[in-house]
Amino acid sequence: MSLSQEDLRELQLEHLGKSPELLLSSFQDMCGDDFVLASSLGPEDQVLTHMLLAINPKARIFILDTGRLHQETYDVMAMTMARYKMTYEVYFPDTEAVEALLRTKGPNSFYESVDNRKDCCRIRKVEPLGRALKGVQAWVTGQRREQSMTRTALDEIEWDTAHHCLKLNPLANWTAEDVWAYIREHDIPVNYLHKKGFPSIGCAPCTRAVKPGEDQRAGRWWWEKPDGKECGLHVKGVTP
Ligand code: ADX
Ligand code: SF4
Repeated sequence: MSLSQEDLRELQLEHLGKSPELLLSSFQDMCGDDFVLASSLGPEDQVLTHMLLAINPKARIFILDTGRLHQETYDVMAMTMARYKMTYEVYFPDTEAVEALLRTKGPNSFYESVDNRKDCCRIRKVEPLGRALKGVQAWVTGQRREQSMTRTALDEIEWDTAHHCLKLNPLANWTAEDVWAYIREHDIPVNYLHKKGFPSIGCAPCTRAVKPGEDQRAGRWWWEKPDGKECGLHVKGVTP
């Protein structure tokens, strides 16, 4: 798919100030089956799952199962499937690529260098994401501006230059408090690890609990500098 800079601007203006629900329903109508939500089973994605399934009970939601998720994250998946009587699209990394990674670098290579860490994220997340987004016109993420210094300029509607499709971040301007208030109001299932000091959860070996006063994402890839802590799913790009 392609889109001109003017078309993107027009879409952004048309949806300016709209609620996440209106944004989701507008793009679900526009894109039909070529519309997907990417869920890491985190609190933001649980909010979006609740909203999207109310709009379309058959909405497409995918999980990139890296093979290194916490058991508690699989519990959220099971609870959500039971609560909403829905199923996920699940993308697993390429078997041979994972076998080669472990054979050559061992199981914990991500701690040794940023390059090794990015290599693991590429195999376990970025390549499967490419498959998940095949033929898609627009995908939805739970990213928020407040989450990290790499997300401060996030727009609700962006052009994804890496995957040649639109990317929606309906909760871009929500605070963590907004997310948790919505979860409480609608009694949405969430990860037990949040109660144990994990505000942001990724793969088990790359996530730890945060200490009081620490940043929300301080526990993600905690051994790396904060300005480079992205896994490659979210390559910034607004120019169609
Ligand atoms: S990450 O880049 O640091 O891993 P983060 O955990 O903040 O991302 O999640 C941001 C958004 O990326 C999520 O709201 C979700 O839309 C998408 N995402 C992250 N991890 C996954 C995953 N394993 N499967 C599907 N979507 C994911
Ligand atoms: Fe690998 Fe860690 Fe990236 Fe997960 S977060 S894909 S385990 S480096």
